[in-house]
Amino acid sequence: MRANKQNGQIDILYKVVGKGSALLATRKSGDIIQCLGPIGNQFTLSKNTTHPLLLGGGVGIPPMVFLADELRQQKNVHPFVIMGSEIPFPFTTQPSKIMVPKIPQEVIAAMPLLDDWGIASRLTSQQGYQGCYQGYVHELAEEWLQGLDNKSKQEVEIFSCGPIPMLQVVAALAKKHSLPCQLSLEEHMACAVGGCAGCVVPYKENNKTIAMKRVCVDGPIFNAENIY
Ligand code: FES
Repeated sequence: MRANKQNGQIDILYKVVGKGSALLATRKSGDIIQCLGPIGNQFTLSKNTTHPLLLGGGVGIPPMVFLADELRQQKNVHPFVIMGSEIPFPFTTQPSKIMVPKIPQEVIAAMPLLDDWGIASRLTSQQGYQGCYQGYVHELAEEWLQGLDNKSKQEVEIFSCGPIPMLQVVAALAKKHSLPCQLSLEEHMACAVGGCAGCVVPYKENNKTIAMKRVCVDGPIFNAENIY
C-alpha cells in the first residue's frame, strides 16, 4: 500500500483469504519475515497526463493509495481517486474537504489520508454507507468524465486495480472514452518469480491473443486493450 524509500518501510494492507494470508495474520509486531521484491512492472504515467483517474475496488484499494502517494510528488498532476467496497472500508471515512465538479454533493465520503494529501477521492458502495455513491466505481467515474471539458478529458489516464468483473467494465469505460488505461491484475501465484506459469493471462493485440503473459513478472500492470 505504501513504500517509504527514505526509511525503508513498507505498509501492506491485506485480507485473509487462505492459508498463507492466515499465517501472515498471526505475525506480531517485531516478528521478522522474509520477503522478495519488488517483482514485476509498475504503473507509468504518460507524458501528457495531468488528470489521472485512479479506480480501486476491494483489495484493489491499496495499490491506488500507493499510486496516489507517488503521484502527489509530481507537479501539475491532479489525481482523482474512486474506491469501491461492499464490506466496510478498511479506514474511517470522512466528508471530503475537496470539492469535485459534477460529482453529486451528497457523494462526499472520502479517505482521510488522501484528503490530507490534497488528493480528491470519493467512495462507492451498494451497501448504503453514509456519503458514498450508491453504485459501482465505474459508474461514478463515468459521471466525472462526462463533466470534463474536452481539453481536460484528453489529459485523463485511467489506472485501476480490483476484481476481474470490475476491470472488465473499467476497460470498456476507457475504450468508450478513448482513454489510455492501465490495469493491475490479480492472480493466484505459486512461485511469483516467473517459473511456474501458474499466473498466465492471454495477451492480445488488435483483439487477437498473441501470447500468454505471466502476471507476476510480465505484469501485474498491463494496458487494458492487451487484456480485455
Ligand atoms: S506465479 Fe509462477 S510464473 Fe507467475
